[in-house]
Amino acid sequence: MYVSDCISINESGHLTIGGADTVELAKEYGTPAYVFDENEIRKNLRAFKNSMDEYYGGNGLAVYASKAFCCKEMCRICMQEGTGIDVVSGGELYTALSVDFPAEKIVFHGNNKTYDELVMAVSNNVGRIVVDNVYELETLSKIAAQQGKTAGIMFRIKPGIDAHTHDFIKTGQIDSKFGFALETGEAMEVIKKAVNMPNIKLRGLHCHIGSQIFDIDPFELAATVMLDLFKSVKDETGIELEELNLGGGFGIKYLESDCPRPYAEYMKNVSKVVKEYSEKLGLKMPFVIIEPGRSVVGAAGITLYTVGAVKEIPDIRTFVSVDGGMGDNPRYALYHADYEVVCANKANEERNTVVTVAGKCCESGDLIQEDTKLQAVEAGDILAVLSTGAYNYSMASNYNRIPRLPVIMVKDGKSRVVVKRETYEKITENDI
Ligand code: LLP
Repeated sequence: MYVSDCISINESGHLTIGGADTVELAKEYGTPAYVFDENEIRKNLRAFKNSMDEYYGGNGLAVYASKAFCCKEMCRICMQEGTGIDVVSGGELYTALSVDFPAEKIVFHGNNKTYDELVMAVSNNVGRIVVDNVYELETLSKIAAQQGKTAGIMFRIKPGIDAHTHDFIKTGQIDSKFGFALETGEAMEVIKKAVNMPNIKLRGLHCHIGSQIFDIDPFELAATVMLDLFKSVKDETGIELEELNLGGGFGIKYLESDCPRPYAEYMKNVSKVVKEYSEKLGLKMPFVIIEPGRSVVGAAGITLYTVGAVKEIPDIRTFVSVDGGMGDNPRYALYHADYEVVCANKANEERNTVVTVAGKCCESGDLIQEDTKLQAVEAGDILAVLSTGAYNYSMASNYNRIPRLPVIMVKDGKSRVVVKRETYEKITENDI
């Protein structure tokens, strides 16, 4: 009935997540608040991990892209489920290290890692630093030499693939700030440079073709493009690279009309291509890494708000304003992202009004969803916006000095706080 498996309606007609009544959660923890179903997150992590085991015979690693949702508890959950973690800043790396995440399973991304971030990565023995540019390679080599270590790296390659997704989140083409281009020979040049560098161990190559992708073909194509490069490297240097990182990007259901393919299907099809194509090129089967972010947490999270003002503008629209907004969910303002909205305390009533759900920020574009179907609502009702688990908490801001939301984790009907609600004192803490 709803876009996410962990959402249901109980006998009181209230929306539930992971078996917990969302109206009760709103009472207990206040709104606005993010709520996640732990079992759903674990189920998704296991699905990726198990399919890596099944289709790559253990010769692979599922790495959670923590940019989608990063906090200590999420890192602990990944650690318990045996996945790796992808970090993209000193802050994400620090969070993972602070729960003793095994450094060998950390993949460090970023197109402009700072000197200090690279020092932090090398001193903590991060397993794979995905190098984006020559400046980074040279800096890293110096840092590794200073520390008397060998840095394990991969190169980020632009495979030049159009993944049929939103323009803002396409990252695979040549006109992208990420990685090395194939067409210009830039990729081969840097690979040749790295294989002769002391203190650098080139483990393999990485690509990421975009996000919220429903088709499997672009992933298959990316795999072949990357393997062609493996083959050229072998031919030109005699070196056979060991690891192929195919990035993340698997789509999720935001609306009923979205139809993501089961993730095991991606794994099955892509692994077949990797196996057959490696064989065809006379390469040994590489160790394969994938980096799902959105697909692990997106549908496992919701945001709860309380309705305040309801403003009906005759013949134009009705604004239903809530106690959060673009600070906690900037995705509508940024991408016009679709979401399903439900009145949590009237969940079994029909959604027969069309309204615009607005936030409380001082900005006309602060909308959660325009012209969306909703039950007839009034002040005090609880709204749930579904599938907000990815890139909401992680992209939140303090615009208008509105405190960031708490994160409530639900498991088998029981709830706990895993990130506290920010206070006004916290917001002003660094002010002099
Ligand atoms: N690996 C790399 C190198 C990435 O750049 C990304 C996402 C991922 C993995 C995870 O992709 P996912 O499985 O989550 O699609 N803020 C945007 C999404 C930006 C994605 C950036 N990179 C949004 O809210 O839609």
